[in-house]
Amino acid sequence: MTATLLRAERARKVYGDKIAVNDVSITLTDGDTVGIVGESGSGKSTLGRMLLGLSRPSGGDVLYDERPLREVLAGRRSALQFRRDVQMIQQDTSASFDPCLTIRQSLRIPAQVLGGLDRARADECIEALAPEMGIAPELIDRMPTELSGGQRQRMAILRALVVRPRLVVCDEVISALDVSVQARILNLLKRYVRDHGMGLVFISHQLPATAFITDELLVMYHGDVVERGETDRLLTAPASDYARGLVEAYRNLAAP
Ligand SMILES: Nc1ncnc2c1ncn2[C@@H]1O[C@H](COP(=O)(O)OP(=O)(O)OP(=O)(O)O)[C@@H](O)[C@H]1O
Ligand SMILES: [Mg+2]
Repeated sequence: MTATLLRAERARKVYGDKIAVNDVSITLTDGDTVGIVGESGSGKSTLGRMLLGLSRPSGGDVLYDERPLREVLAGRRSALQFRRDVQMIQQDTSASFDPCLTIRQSLRIPAQVLGGLDRARADECIEALAPEMGIAPELIDRMPTELSGGQRQRMAILRALVVRPRLVVCDEVISALDVSVQARILNLLKRYVRDHGMGLVFISHQLPATAFITDELLVMYHGDVVERGETDRLLTAPASDYARGLVEAYRNLAAP
């Protein structure tokens, strides 16, 4: 049996009188790929941030290896372990890499600090992983501003993978990119996940892209999970009105 890696148990987040996430439970074991979809403001990022320990639940709990995350993060060693196991990739912004460092220097930081590698081993690891993200070796020594948005986003993925995490939480990682670049990144990430048995939480408001890369979907609406289940089933036979509307909207969009 695969052990539970990360679990939200009736996790709730309240901002003032706004319930951003309403008692959501989710269990992630190694290799699980789960998509979180729903319209803007439905609570996807807030749930993701709670899973990553970046936002403390107002109610319920998030557990890592069955231990409350706040306890895990309070210990130096256990916090390091968590940060190595569970990585985050966010939408590329110009601030996502330090503008004063080359990409290589930025990538070495997690490899050395979290992965405990020396500089030579960190470089080996970066160079071995680069082809898996379709990155030409010469790009690694560029400054962040010398890369295109798509190249920089693949570097951000590489930075998360360099510590060989068990789970990666992606929040709108392809939304700002053009469609051909989106497809390339989705394919590379999908292959990596399959080849390495890595877990993935893929947060996006783009249903087709999310469905392509995940086995399970969680559909959120106003902080609630209105439907969840196997991706294929949810796409072909959505049970809730909201999920049906979402699926139909994309089906109509795809029609000529
Ligand atoms: N730090 C915050 N302070 C106050 N309200 C917040 C905060 N973060 C999120 N919210 C509110 O919580 C709700 C959920 O926001 P969240 O960012 O999780 O949505 P989302 O599904 O990720 O949306 P999007 O698709 O636009 O990224 C929204 O109503 C938002 O305004
Ligand atoms: Mg969001």
